[in-house]
Amino acid sequence: MGLVNLREMLSDADTQRYAVGAFNVVNLESLQAILEAAVEKRSPVILNIAEVHFKYIDLESISPVIQRAAEQVPVPVALHLDHGIHFETIVRALRCGFTSVMFDGSTLPYEENVQATRDVVRMAHAVGVTVEAELGHVGGEEGGTEGAQSDPALYTDPDQAADFVKKTGVDALAVAIGSAHGLYKRKPKLDFERLVQIKDATGIPLVLHGGSGIPNEDFRKAIELGICKINVFTEMSQSATRQIKDKLQKDPDFFSFPDLMLMAREAIKETVMEKMDIFGSSTICQAPNAFCQTCGACVLANLDNPQESFSSETCKSCDSSKVDISQEEITKLVSEVLRRLASEKKVAG
Ligand code: 13P
Repeated sequence: MGLVNLREMLSDADTQRYAVGAFNVVNLESLQAILEAAVEKRSPVILNIAEVHFKYIDLESISPVIQRAAEQVPVPVALHLDHGIHFETIVRALRCGFTSVMFDGSTLPYEENVQATRDVVRMAHAVGVTVEAELGHVGGEEGGTEGAQSDPALYTDPDQAADFVKKTGVDALAVAIGSAHGLYKRKPKLDFERLVQIKDATGIPLVLHGGSGIPNEDFRKAIELGICKINVFTEMSQSATRQIKDKLQKDPDFFSFPDLMLMAREAIKETVMEKMDIFGSSTICQAPNAFCQTCGACVLANLDNPQESFSSETCKSCDSSKVDISQEEITKLVSEVLRRLASEKKVAG
């Protein structure tokens, strides 16, 4: 099936109380591992491409590869820009056919974060692309080995979150409640009370970053309280390198690079499948009437029951990427935002 955006994917997760895993793609092996895991677990999945990982993959080259791979799998896949920091990166992702983007203005002063996120939302929504933003600040670095810790002074404020969502129109919000990217210095302690307050105040799907190293029971509780998307990368990276280290320790003369990559891919797949089970997204694509033949999702379910057909009226993902806007209007909108940004820069300079 083709790619879908986050809106329908997460609203289903929100109502059924599970979370969709967003796993970072840093090369072909990680892409294959994540998609194989999703098919085996019959789970919707989000492919994250992070701006900080552009040193590993070229955005313009990998996008067509991902789109083709997503068409081959019978589960819904969202192609999501993770932590887009620069406005230009958001525009590049839109041009590459991403179905969702994260604009991370979390280090900006509040009003600037609102303004910039609102611009991104206007542009992205015009082409049917969903937007995740971050308020408060989740510290650390994806795949980081230094040992990260979150700063309570930078946790998301529930009242400010309500104001932010209202002013920007974002589809999902990444919250700072005690998780951090990379390895943890000590066991993370999530602020569940704050999570409940943010959920009540915003009512939109919430996102937990820094998913590596969080205890399973905390994941379950966070999902129960409103987390619908969970980002994971460091554990995938760890399991891949652990596998390679083990192999080379046992067989120091082994030198087949492609076979080492295959082993790494298997290890990543295992990690992703474990997370899908914990997040409750496994077997979601098997649920009768959850997905239909129109968008092509859940062909696996049809293969199991070939006589069973799915109605497009009940499909949860078909309508997500339909937009009614001309190419001319999109160009006008992008130019308008770029012009305004340029004049703002002039004023600031
Ligand atoms: P981890 O690398 O800590 O799992 O975090 C991933 C993430 O949040 C990507 O945005």
